[in-house]
Amino acid sequence: MSYKDKIKDKDQDIYILALESSCDETAASVNKNGLEILSNVVSSQVDLHKKFGGVVPEIASRKHLELLLPVIDQALAEAGVEFEDLDAVASTYGPGLVGGLLVTLTAAKTISLALNIPLIGVNHIAGHIYANFIANPEIEKPLICLTISGGHTDLLYFEDLRGYQILGRTIDDAAGEAFDKISRFLGLGYPGGPAIEKAARSGDRDAIDFPRADLGDSYDFSFSGLKTAVMNHVHNEEQRGNEIDQNDLAASFQEAVVDSLASNLIKAVREYKVESVVISGGVAANQRLREVIAERLKEHNLELYYPPLELCTDNAAMIGAVAYYQYLEQDFAPLSISADPSLKL
Ligand code: KG4
Ligand code: ZN
Repeated sequence: MSYKDKIKDKDQDIYILALESSCDETAASVNKNGLEILSNVVSSQVDLHKKFGGVVPEIASRKHLELLLPVIDQALAEAGVEFEDLDAVASTYGPGLVGGLLVTLTAAKTISLALNIPLIGVNHIAGHIYANFIANPEIEKPLICLTISGGHTDLLYFEDLRGYQILGRTIDDAAGEAFDKISRFLGLGYPGGPAIEKAARSGDRDAIDFPRADLGDSYDFSFSGLKTAVMNHVHNEEQRGNEIDQNDLAASFQEAVVDSLASNLIKAVREYKVESVVISGGVAANQRLREVIAERLKEHNLELYYPPLELCTDNAAMIGAVAYYQYLEQDFAPLSISADPSLKL
C-alpha cells in the first residue's frame, strides 16, 4: 500500500522512527499514529561534557556517531517494531549543533533510501511544543505556549496545531543559557538549570532584588542585564570582603528569571483569549517556574500544562509527534535536505 493510500485509510496505523541529536542527547523513538509513544530511548552525554562546563560540539558529534545505532536498535526492540514495519523516518534538521544534526540526518536519509520510505525533516523547537500534546492530548486550542530551552525563549500563540504567531522572543540570551552562564560563573556546574534550582531550594529568593528587564509593551525577553547584575553583585561583595551565600544568590537569580518569564506570559494571556497555556523546553522542568505561572493563571481560570520531565528535555518522541502531522500533510524532505543550525520556527 502506498503512503498516500495509507493516509487516506483511517484504519491503518502509521509507525514512525524519529531521531534526535541536535545537542548532547542521542535519541531514537518509535511512535504509532503520532502521539502514542512505543519507545523513547535517550542516551545523555551530560557527564561527558560536565568537566568542560558546557557542550563541546566536536566531542558531542563523535559520541552521537558511536551511540546512534545502538540507540536505534533499542528503540525498535522496545517498541516491538521491525525496520520493515516503519512508514517513515524522521530526524531533527535544526536548530542545533551542525555536527550533531548531521549524524541523525544522515542516518535518517540512509534508512529512507534503504527502506524506500519517506524522510521527514523536523524543527527541534516544534518538537518541544508537541511534547505537550503527547502528555496532554486533550489540550484545548487556541493556546499560548512558552518555549524555553538552552537556545530559545519564544512566546507563541496557536490558533490550532497548524498555525502559530510569534508574540515575543529573547533579544539576547535564552532563558536556559542564562541559567547555564550563571551556574558556570558560580561554579555550580553544567547543566546550569538543575544546579541552580537545587541550590535555590535552600536559599532565600528575596535575599537580593535583581532587576527584571522592562521592554515596554513588547512581549520580548532579555536576560543579559540580569546576568551582569549577578556578576556585579558578586564582585562588589567580594571587594567588600563579604561572604556570599550561593543558595541565596541562586534563589534570587532564579526568581528574577521566573518572574520575567511569568510576567510576559500572563500579559499575553490578558491580551489573547485562550483555552490553554503550555510551557515546553528544558527550562519548563523548573519547579519554581511551574509553581509561579500556575498560581498567576488561577485568576484567569486557566490551568498550566507541561510535559513530564523526560519529555521536557531533548528526546526523539517529540520529534516523532511533529513528524506524524507532517506525514499526514505529505510534508516530506528530499534526500538533499541539509542541517540548518539556526533554523527558525
Ligand atoms: O530543551 P533542552 O534540553 O535543550 C535545548 O534544546 O536547549 O534545554 C536545555 C536547557 C539548559 O540550558 C538547561 O540548563 C535548562 O534547559 N534546564 C533547566 C532545568 N533543567 C534544564 N533550567 C532551569 N531549571 C531546570 N530544572
Ligand atoms: Zn531542546
